[in-house]
Amino acid sequence: MSATQYGRTTTNAGAPAPSDENSLTVGPDGPIVLHDNYLIEKMAQFNRERVPERVVHAKGGGAYGAFTVTGDVSRYTKAALFQPGATTRMLARFSSVAGELGSPDTWRDPRGFALKFYTDEGNYDMVGNNTPVFFMRDPQKFQDFIRSQKRHPVTHLRDNDMQWDYWSLSPESAHQVAWLMGDRGVPKTWRHMNGYSSHTYMWTNAEGTKFWVKYHFKTDQGADFLTQGEADRLAGTDPDHYLKDLHAALAAGDFPTWTLQVQIMPFEEAEDYRFNPFDLTKVWPHGDYPPIEVGRMQLNEIPENYHVHIEQAAFEPSNLVPGIGPSPDKMLLARMFSYPDTHRHRIGVNYGELPPNRPKAGVRSYSKDGGMRHFPAETARPYHPNSYGGPDAEVQAGDDPTGWSSSGDLVRNAYTPRKDDDDFGQAHALVREVMDDAARDRLVSNVVGHLSKGVSEPVLKRAVEYWRNIDAEVGDRIASGMGVS
Ligand code: NDP
Ligand code: HEM
Repeated sequence: MSATQYGRTTTNAGAPAPSDENSLTVGPDGPIVLHDNYLIEKMAQFNRERVPERVVHAKGGGAYGAFTVTGDVSRYTKAALFQPGATTRMLARFSSVAGELGSPDTWRDPRGFALKFYTDEGNYDMVGNNTPVFFMRDPQKFQDFIRSQKRHPVTHLRDNDMQWDYWSLSPESAHQVAWLMGDRGVPKTWRHMNGYSSHTYMWTNAEGTKFWVKYHFKTDQGADFLTQGEADRLAGTDPDHYLKDLHAALAAGDFPTWTLQVQIMPFEEAEDYRFNPFDLTKVWPHGDYPPIEVGRMQLNEIPENYHVHIEQAAFEPSNLVPGIGPSPDKMLLARMFSYPDTHRHRIGVNYGELPPNRPKAGVRSYSKDGGMRHFPAETARPYHPNSYGGPDAEVQAGDDPTGWSSSGDLVRNAYTPRKDDDDFGQAHALVREVMDDAARDRLVSNVVGHLSKGVSEPVLKRAVEYWRNIDAEVGDRIASGMGVS
């Protein structure tokens, strides 16, 4: 096939390009001239091809799909996307947290599980992880935690001593660390992991009754994992293992699915529940709040361009729709600021207009202009109120009561423990009641392997005590594996 069958190359302005290969020079071997605009355009565009990588969750991949409701949770939420029979187009992005854009997929790390639903009522984003809990309960600590997982300021190496230093000084991290060091800390592929909202959210039904809710997207491929040995090998031989697996499955028409289950807590029960139900370091035991099926998400469409649809995707926990609201979880409330802020920095103030982010429901806001704006605001005048027409955000009859009540002095409160609150109890339940002997053996081996890579006193001693607080026997085995008392 000749090149001309594809048409002539053009400049970015659409004019015929002078040449794909030869720059404009003074004589055949003379200097290049500044007015070779096409060469300048190619060099300048190339220099700007990258947007900054995400400060966390840089390495990832994703796909489009659909979410179909199979159950009936209409008595808990009026959100249109969760009404019986509804099907909603969506985008999913899976990721690792600490590694950079080119890092191996199989490093031990939590995995991001970010979903964007293009609903009739605006975009709804469920920006979760493959773990139901997190390392801390106060957003003041997030930045410090992440720095302990990233590169050392002098060596520029990932540094296990920094990681265990932070974790062992932060006992509330124990549940998430126990989870991470167990089998599910390295999923077999993205298709073989569950996704969780982790946070508690608020649901409101058509009558205005409020509920607390946690989401669990359970993989229909079966939860499966890689051993540390398999993960280490793949990190060298197939660093894009997850990315490749997802693409291959979609290309073969083997569309992965996840079943959404929710746990529902009646609004009034939160106050007296035996631990703080908004604490992100804890799950709600299934025995207390059994999962209820909502629907199924299927991924079935490879995005036509990775940069446009995945690198420029902007997920934000603040994208909520009628029937779904935030809870008093401090981590969630801080995240509602952080994500739109980082998007403005990373991909520009009008990131909402980019293809993966543009709501199907239409936009009638009073924000305007800014760099790279494509669509003018649909208002007759750029201010409210005005006499010439424009949308109105005044509360309408039937709108949500969007919140909960709160009062008190301004305080900086670390923690108000309730009857069954502590940092180690649920980590212990995971290690002792959920894991079997073989899984516990792998846990001990994973921790010993991790501690053996550059963790020294005083951090090592503290790390061993941390594990003894989670489970005495597991702690003793780790101590003996490290040759310390
Ligand atoms: P259940 O026995 O009802 O639930 C145990 C849960 O653990 C199941 O959801 C199961 O997921 C999951 N699980 C199984 N193996 C592992 C593993 N190696 N690593 C992490 N999770 C695993 O118990 P409870 O609800 O009373 O919770 C007990 C403990 O289970 C908790 O302290 C928590 O650590 C863990 N857990 C609890 C969850 C919850 O929301 N209640 C969710 C996930 C973990 P699956 O069905 O997919 O196999
Ligand atoms: C990505 C901040 C906690 C899940 C990000 C990004 C930031 C951030 C700045 C980069 C976003 C981008 O550039 O597009 C924070 C802060 C947190 C926090 C400040 C705590 C206060 C959490 C928690 C979860 C989570 C608890 C899961 C429950 C994710 C996911 C992504 C992400 C999945 C990647 C989204 C994508 O695929 O684009 N976070 N985060 N984060 N975060 Fe968090």
